[in-house]
Amino acid sequence: MSTPRTVLVTGGNRGIGRAIAEEFIAQGHRVAVTARSGSGPDGALTVVADVTDSASLDAAFTAVEAELGPVEVVVANAGITKDTLLLRMSEDDFTSVIDTNLSGAFRVVKRASKGMLKARFGRIVLISSVVGLLGSAGQVNYSASKSGLIGLARSVTRELGARGITANVVAPGFIETDMTAELPEAQQAEYKKSIPAGRFASAEEVAKVVTWIAGDDAGYISGAVIPVDGGLGMGH
Ligand SMILES: NC(=O)c1ccc[n+]([C@@H]2O[C@H](COP(=O)([O-])OP(=O)(O)OC[C@H]3O[C@@H](n4cnc5c(N)ncnc54)[C@H](OP(=O)(O)O)[C@@H]3O)[C@@H](O)[C@H]2O)c1
Repeated sequence: MSTPRTVLVTGGNRGIGRAIAEEFIAQGHRVAVTARSGSGPDGALTVVADVTDSASLDAAFTAVEAELGPVEVVVANAGITKDTLLLRMSEDDFTSVIDTNLSGAFRVVKRASKGMLKARFGRIVLISSVVGLLGSAGQVNYSASKSGLIGLARSVTRELGARGITANVVAPGFIETDMTAELPEAQQAEYKKSIPAGRFASAEEVAKVVTWIAGDDAGYISGAVIPVDGGLGMGH
């Protein structure tokens, strides 16, 4: 088992973020989640924050630090979709998705890095998507935001790598959550045909990879993009 750490997961009230929080708790870590509504799993400290608002994030980090100690592992998971074809996509559809998924991760990483630099230790995990590598019709905004996370993690790796801090990207494929439940059945069946594994994954399968990349055994991995996609994004 890895050294117990203080972990903060954004968007930990449901979906993949909640599963990630549960897995860190199961492995004996001190876990906090941010939520705009609802709360995280049993055993997690829930703090209210919106990743589009730096002041709310700052207050959330301060509350976690007071309760659980400096944040050593941060998982930028909060994300949204606003899918439509390019010609129908409004500028607001584009910028609001970037503001949550990419600028939100930037705000989280920037705030987390303060304590990590002081401690000369940190694990940053950004939840991207296979569509950040493959592209996706109807998701110009979302896929651009998810590709951007790769440049973010790799630049952070170059800036902070010598201070004991790693920054990695986990790129899930299709995972059974509210986000994919919204897709029409026919589209879900079509997607399954293109996935070599022939199925969607559970959120727990993503969570296990996130805890591993943040753990002691993965301390020399940084700037990596780790697919959890059943082979969908192979070669990208
Ligand atoms: N599901 C998939 O197949 C899949 C595949 C690849 C990547 N991903 C990525 O994995 C991450 C989690 O996805 P999911 O499927 O678990 O999605 P989800 O079930 O829709 O949950 C999204 C989470 O993000 C939070 N969130 C959204 N906007 C926020 C904001 N402005 N500030 C704070 N929190 C915010 C939500 O909080 P509220 O409950 O308050 O809305 C919720 O906790 C996302 O980054 C997503 O892009 C998902």
